[in-house]
Amino acid sequence: MTATDLDAAAPAVDEAGLLAGFEATIARSDRIEPRDWMPDHYRKTLIRQVAQHAHSEIIGMQPEGAWITRAPSLRRKAILLAKVQDEAGHGLYLYSACETLGVSRQELTEMLIEVKQKYSSIFNYPTLSYADVGTIGWLVDGAAICNQVPLCRTSYGPYGRAMIRVCKEESFHQRQGYELLSTMMRGTDEQRAMVQESVDRFWWPALMMFGPPDDESPNTEQSMAWGIKRNTNDDLRQRFVDMSVPQAEALGVTFPDPELRWNAERGHHDFGQPDWDEFMQVVKGNGPCNTQRIAHRRKAHEDGGWVREAATAFADKQAAARRQEASA
Ligand code: 3HC
Repeated sequence: MTATDLDAAAPAVDEAGLLAGFEATIARSDRIEPRDWMPDHYRKTLIRQVAQHAHSEIIGMQPEGAWITRAPSLRRKAILLAKVQDEAGHGLYLYSACETLGVSRQELTEMLIEVKQKYSSIFNYPTLSYADVGTIGWLVDGAAICNQVPLCRTSYGPYGRAMIRVCKEESFHQRQGYELLSTMMRGTDEQRAMVQESVDRFWWPALMMFGPPDDESPNTEQSMAWGIKRNTNDDLRQRFVDMSVPQAEALGVTFPDPELRWNAERGHHDFGQPDWDEFMQVVKGNGPCNTQRIAHRRKAHEDGGWVREAATAFADKQAAARRQEASA
């Protein structure tokens, strides 16, 4: 039989029927699962978003990890260690979810260290004082929760299920950040000044985490139509501002935005725009810490080569033993 004969013998794929089935699943707000048919563009969009998300969790270990050896007490060290470890876990759930879309962990890691895929802009800013550990917990993890709780209802099953556990842990992270800052705010004038300085530095980058304004976001419309995203970037940014203002008041800090005020008519806070040119620069690789973050990740990957080799050799040995047992 020639290849042409084989083609003729294969049942015709009903592309239109498959697409209609996919669209009906999305319309019912049901989940698409790994073995279900999905349009190529849907798969690619998910790989892009879930990979970027996983990379963010892994790169996000660096700014706070830098403070583990300098934590001011055993209690703070234990909390920070656990938190950074949680982020590693989030990365692993998300890489696993991404693998169900047909891309391997090795490929994903290479795309990160070769700068072919992105990670969140926020992790390209340095952590200059211990207060930054609290601010990252409160504002960065707070922004992450705003963005990620709706993703528990994302249309792709493995991603949505991974997000449920991630969000539970992120809520703890946010509370530990707030608790750290409120302890410092009850301390000395110097500690209060340290918190305010940290909040001033992180406020605008935290707002940038939600992505560009809706009218400059190339992916939002299609991702919303497919139920990958459940809210637009601007909606989530607004939700985050509304949530953060009363928390800042309770804490006794201010945000560095002269346009920030309650708008009774809208029932929301008005606020200024972040510097979107700075955002673009950071996303393009020109932020304060991009080079350092990737160099660190690349070195960790290279240093871990022997572990991967040993694990592969061990798995091969186990498989050979199983084969021998089966044939005995
Ligand atoms: N940092 C880096 N790149 C960003 C970005 C940001 N803050 N915001 C948007 N971008 C990129 C997009 O990825 C997209 O890149 P592309 O060239 O690959 O298309 C481009 O800018 C245009 O933006 P869009 O708004 O069109 O992109 P999306 O529709 O993907 O929306 C998003 C961006 C809202 C970040 C969305 O991808 C998303 O919700 N992702 C899942 C959540 C996530 O990745 N969070 C990262 C933080 S995780 C974290 O904080 C860890 C925690 O422990 C603290």
